[in-house]
Amino acid sequence: MQIIDNTKAMQQQVREWKQAGERIAFVPTMGNLHEGHMTLVKAARDRGKRCVVSIFVNPKQFGPKEDFATYPRSFEADTERLKAAAVDCVFAPGVEDMYPEGKDTCTSVSVPGLSDVLEGEYRPGFFTGVATVVNKLFNIVQPDVAIFGEKDFQQCLVIRRMVRDLAMPIDIICLPTVRESDGLAMSSRNAYLDHAQRKVAAELSRCLQQLATTVRLASGVSFAVIHASQALEVQGFEVDYVVVRRQRDLQTPEDGDTELVALAAVHLGDTRLIDSIPFVLEAA
Ligand code: PAJ
Repeated sequence: MQIIDNTKAMQQQVREWKQAGERIAFVPTMGNLHEGHMTLVKAARDRGKRCVVSIFVNPKQFGPKEDFATYPRSFEADTERLKAAAVDCVFAPGVEDMYPEGKDTCTSVSVPGLSDVLEGEYRPGFFTGVATVVNKLFNIVQPDVAIFGEKDFQQCLVIRRMVRDLAMPIDIICLPTVRESDGLAMSSRNAYLDHAQRKVAAELSRCLQQLATTVRLASGVSFAVIHASQALEVQGFEVDYVVVRRQRDLQTPEDGDTELVALAAVHLGDTRLIDSIPFVLEAA
């Protein structure tokens, strides 16, 4: 497995693969890999002759008061795992390489509308940071297919929209969330939780599951959402949002919409957790 740490060398390798007519499958990550990431990597392996995984903790998607400095980094362990999974290449550029003019003055990509609600409301600039870095990574790696996780449901929609709006010739695949045995969505940030918080954290997915079930069976979205929010607060979470939205654009569901998603963002102590459960209403 190659480890490439600069754009020029990555582009040279990509050129060789393209000349040989080889398909490239790509998984962008910020490292500190867990089974959720590895599921995407295995899917990438099955979909391309060449499999590239990027590891880049992207400063442009962290707010000034967020955890960029303390975000867990475990490069050695990550590369061991990726090697064992038969990945062809890890692309791990430095910040100066990705943002030669600085992260705040670089050319950037924004996806209006979708980026302004939910996560975008609580993390201003977050999705511009994500879209910009993913666009740049796509330009460097030139994948035929790129794999993302539904764990970050809104991120998947933002990336799909960017690829469609900018006519990028890339298949975007979004795979279901991988969970711990008690239902907690796997996340690098789970490492911040202490023992007591870790036990409580599983209630987030239970609450969202309950919310989805209530809406499926009883259809009263607003009552179900208030109930879910109260249940989370009783468990000790501080709630940023808990909502039921349409899967396709994260707008409030209207009569006849059947493909919905329950989404939440909460704080447990200093740790912010997000989760989402997509579900389908049976048509009336
Ligand atoms: P990161 O949080 O490292 O996640 C990398 C990819 O793994 C994303 O597509 C994310 O949705 C997926 N993922 C994370 N936890 C998962 C889980 N439990 N089950 C399934 N997939 C999961 O998301 C990012 O990095 C960044 O925003 C990035 C796209 C790399 C841009 O910087």
